[in-house]
Amino acid sequence: MTEALPKVLISEDAIRDKVAELAATISAAYEGVDDLFLIGVLKGSFIFLADLSRRLTIPRSVDFMALSTYGNATSTDGAVRMIMDLRRSIKGRHVLVVEDIVDTGFTLDYLLRNLAARQPASLKTCALVRKPDRAKIEISIDYLGFDIPDEWVVGCGLDWAEKYRTLPYIGVVHPE
Ligand code: PRP
Repeated sequence: MTEALPKVLISEDAIRDKVAELAATISAAYEGVDDLFLIGVLKGSFIFLADLSRRLTIPRSVDFMALSTYGNATSTDGAVRMIMDLRRSIKGRHVLVVEDIVDTGFTLDYLLRNLAARQPASLKTCALVRKPDRAKIEISIDYLGFDIPDEWVVGCGLDWAEKYRTLPYIGVVHPE
């Protein structure tokens, strides 16, 4: 028997259109900047970052960081630790952090404080989706795709126990 796919929350077409819109807005905002430094937060951001970065019309480079939250899959106490750091300094560079999802906000809050201490020329954030109902820390997201309800979402980099990350749309699963 074939397993049913997650129910569509945001379609592939809607995501494609939103990524194009975000890329146009970001390209216009950073017009004239030598080299926008995009930082993807692993693992979840890899699909969104790949799609977004290819649509930008300004010079850019890409690097990744990996972070992990202590706690179980559905609740954390907000403690974040770094698993993998950037390879180069960001001092004096224009940095845009790219996330698949902002949930409690703990990850992005940790990351922004950590990166700000490295003295970039500017530091902004971009996220494909955000769950406003789950926010524990108010974080300003400069470039946001969609606000979504508090449901377990998968696809476009988001997983459920490592499943469904490469689904081309954002769907909802109901873990038992
Ligand atoms: C997800 C996502 C963000 C973080 C957001 O990563 O990619 O980094 O959670 O949650 P927060 O706002 O509550 O901190 P996750 O820990 O699931 O790891 P993954 O990207 O490797 O799946």
